Amino acid sequence: MDVDIALHVDGQERRLTVDTRTTLLDALRERLGNTSPKKGCDHGQCGACTVLLDGERALSCLALAVAYQGAHVVTAAGLVGAGDEPHPVHSAFIAHDAFQCGYCTPGQIVSAVGMLAEADAGRPSAVTGDLTSGTVALDDGEIAERMSGNLCRCAAYANIRTAIAEVAR
Ligand code: FES
Ligand code: FES
Repeated sequence: MDVDIALHVDGQERRLTVDTRTTLLDALRERLGNTSPKKGCDHGQCGACTVLLDGERALSCLALAVAYQGAHVVTAAGLVGAGDEPHPVHSAFIAHDAFQCGYCTPGQIVSAVGMLAEADAGRPSAVTGDLTSGTVALDDGEIAERMSGNLCRCAAYANIRTAIAEVAR
Protein backbone atom coordinates (compact mmCIF):
# COMPACT_ATOMS: atom_id res chain seq x y z
CA MET A 1 0.00 0.00 0.00
CA ASP A 2 1.35 3.44 -0.95
CA VAL A 3 1.02 6.50 1.28
CA ASP A 4 1.89 10.17 0.64
CA ILE A 5 4.18 11.60 3.31
CA ALA A 6 6.12 14.79 3.95
CA LEU A 7 9.44 14.91 5.77
CA HIS A 8 11.66 17.85 6.68
CA VAL A 9 15.12 16.63 5.72
CA ASP A 10 18.15 18.75 6.54
CA GLY A 11 15.94 21.84 6.64
CA GLN A 12 14.01 21.19 3.43
CA GLU A 13 10.47 19.92 3.11
CA ARG A 14 10.35 16.81 0.95
CA ARG A 15 7.16 15.09 -0.25
CA LEU A 16 7.07 11.55 -1.53
CA THR A 17 4.89 8.50 -1.91
CA VAL A 18 6.16 5.43 -0.11
CA ASP A 19 5.15 1.83 0.21
CA THR A 20 4.27 1.41 3.89
CA ARG A 21 7.13 -1.11 4.23
CA THR A 22 9.78 1.46 3.22
CA THR A 23 12.30 2.24 5.93
CA LEU A 24 13.32 5.80 6.62
CA LEU A 25 16.84 4.86 5.52
CA ASP A 26 15.63 3.65 2.13
CA ALA A 27 13.35 6.67 1.75
CA LEU A 28 16.32 8.97 2.37
CA ARG A 29 18.84 7.14 0.24
CA GLU A 30 16.83 5.58 -2.57
CA ARG A 31 13.98 8.03 -2.92
CA LEU A 32 15.38 11.39 -1.85
CA GLY A 33 19.01 10.91 -2.93
CA ASN A 34 20.40 11.69 0.52
CA THR A 35 23.23 9.17 0.80
CA SER A 36 24.70 10.62 3.98
CA PRO A 37 23.22 7.94 6.28
CA LYS A 38 24.85 4.64 5.35
CA LYS A 39 23.41 1.16 5.11
CA GLY A 40 25.80 -0.99 7.07
CA CYS A 41 23.89 -3.93 8.51
CA ASP A 42 20.26 -2.88 7.80
CA HIS A 43 19.38 -4.63 11.08
CA GLY A 44 19.91 -2.06 13.84
CA GLN A 45 23.33 -3.40 14.77
CA CYS A 46 25.94 -0.96 13.47
CA GLY A 47 24.74 2.65 13.77
CA ALA A 48 25.88 3.65 10.27
CA CYS A 49 22.34 4.80 9.44
CA THR A 50 21.95 7.06 12.50
CA VAL A 51 19.97 10.29 11.98
CA LEU A 52 18.42 12.82 14.32
CA LEU A 53 14.67 12.25 14.23
CA ASP A 54 12.82 15.16 15.80
CA GLY A 55 16.04 15.88 17.71
CA GLU A 56 16.69 12.37 19.01
CA ARG A 57 19.20 9.98 17.51
CA ALA A 58 17.52 7.08 15.77
CA LEU A 59 18.47 4.12 13.59
CA SER A 60 16.82 4.94 10.29
CA CYS A 61 17.04 1.31 9.10
CA LEU A 62 14.61 0.33 11.88
CA ALA A 63 12.17 3.21 11.34
CA LEU A 64 9.31 2.98 8.86
CA ALA A 65 9.10 6.24 6.92
CA VAL A 66 5.29 6.24 7.03
CA ALA A 67 5.40 6.42 10.84
CA TYR A 68 7.24 9.75 10.76
CA GLN A 69 4.84 11.94 8.79
CA GLY A 70 5.99 15.56 9.17
CA ALA A 71 9.09 14.65 11.19
CA HIS A 72 12.31 16.65 11.13
CA VAL A 73 15.24 14.52 10.02
CA VAL A 74 18.85 15.69 10.28
CA THR A 75 21.66 13.75 8.63
CA ALA A 76 25.39 14.40 8.91
CA ALA A 77 25.14 16.31 5.61
CA GLY A 78 22.68 18.73 7.20
CA LEU A 79 24.71 19.56 10.29
CA VAL A 80 26.19 23.03 10.10
CA GLY A 81 27.93 25.31 12.55
CA ALA A 82 27.50 29.03 13.01
CA GLY A 83 27.36 30.95 9.74
CA ASP A 84 29.02 28.99 6.97
CA GLU A 85 31.35 27.17 9.36
CA PRO A 86 31.38 23.38 9.48
CA HIS A 87 29.70 21.87 12.53
CA PRO A 88 32.17 21.63 15.47
CA VAL A 89 31.87 17.83 15.46
CA HIS A 90 32.79 17.70 11.78
CA SER A 91 35.80 19.92 12.46
CA ALA A 92 36.91 17.84 15.44
CA PHE A 93 36.70 14.59 13.43
CA ILE A 94 38.94 16.14 10.77
CA ALA A 95 41.37 17.64 13.29
CA HIS A 96 41.77 14.34 15.16
CA ASP A 97 41.84 12.04 12.14
CA ALA A 98 38.77 10.25 13.48
CA PHE A 99 38.03 8.24 10.36
CA GLN A 100 39.76 5.88 8.00
CA CYS A 101 37.47 4.59 5.23
CA GLY A 102 34.78 6.98 6.47
CA TYR A 103 31.86 4.62 5.93
CA CYS A 104 30.70 4.79 9.54
CA THR A 105 31.56 8.48 9.90
CA PRO A 106 28.19 10.12 9.10
CA GLY A 107 26.50 7.89 11.68
CA GLN A 108 29.29 8.52 14.19
CA ILE A 109 28.98 12.29 13.73
CA VAL A 110 25.19 12.36 14.06
CA SER A 111 25.37 10.06 17.06
CA ALA A 112 28.01 12.28 18.68
CA VAL A 113 25.81 15.35 18.22
CA GLY A 114 22.86 13.48 19.72
CA MET A 115 24.77 12.12 22.69
CA LEU A 116 26.36 15.48 23.49
CA ALA A 117 22.85 16.93 23.72
CA GLU A 118 21.69 13.99 25.88
CA ALA A 119 24.59 14.50 28.28
CA ASP A 120 24.04 18.25 28.26
CA ALA A 121 20.45 17.62 29.34
CA GLY A 122 21.74 15.54 32.26
CA ARG A 123 20.49 12.22 30.90
CA PRO A 124 22.51 9.40 32.50
CA SER A 125 23.99 6.40 30.73
CA ALA A 126 24.65 2.87 32.01
CA VAL A 127 28.04 3.99 33.38
CA THR A 128 27.04 7.29 35.01
CA GLY A 129 28.07 7.04 38.64
CA ASP A 130 26.03 9.73 40.37
CA LEU A 131 22.43 9.61 39.16
CA THR A 132 21.28 12.40 41.46
CA SER A 133 23.46 15.34 40.40
CA GLY A 134 21.63 16.04 37.13
CA THR A 135 24.94 16.67 35.37
CA VAL A 136 27.14 14.30 33.42
CA ALA A 137 30.92 14.54 33.13
CA LEU A 138 31.86 13.27 29.69
CA ASP A 139 34.98 11.29 30.53
CA ASP A 140 36.34 8.63 28.19
CA GLY A 141 34.13 5.92 29.70
CA GLU A 142 30.96 7.98 29.28
CA ILE A 143 31.81 8.80 25.67
CA ALA A 144 32.62 5.16 24.88
CA GLU A 145 29.39 3.94 26.45
CA ARG A 146 27.24 6.55 24.74
CA MET A 147 28.84 5.82 21.36
CA SER A 148 28.74 2.05 21.78
CA GLY A 149 25.89 1.67 19.26
CA ASN A 150 28.13 2.96 16.47
CA LEU A 151 30.54 0.36 15.17
CA CYS A 152 33.63 1.17 13.12
CA ARG A 153 35.19 -1.60 11.04
CA CYS A 154 38.40 0.41 10.81
CA ALA A 155 38.52 0.64 14.62
CA ALA A 156 39.07 4.41 14.65
CA TYR A 157 37.52 4.45 18.11
CA ALA A 158 40.38 6.15 20.00
CA ASN A 159 40.42 9.15 17.67
CA ILE A 160 36.61 9.30 17.55
CA ARG A 161 36.51 9.55 21.35
CA THR A 162 39.24 12.20 21.31
CA ALA A 163 37.32 14.27 18.76
CA ILE A 164 34.10 14.07 20.76
CA ALA A 165 35.92 14.91 24.00
CA GLU A 166 37.28 18.07 22.39
CA VAL A 167 33.77 19.25 21.51
CA ALA A 168 32.47 18.26 24.94
CA ARG A 169 35.02 20.46 26.77
S1 FES B 1 22.32 0.12 8.97
FE1 FES B 1 21.06 0.72 10.60
S2 FES B 1 22.06 -0.02 12.37
FE2 FES B 1 23.24 -0.80 10.72
S1 FES C 1 36.23 4.69 9.45
FE1 FES C 1 35.96 2.83 8.32
S2 FES C 1 34.24 1.90 9.24
FE2 FES C 1 34.70 3.56 10.54
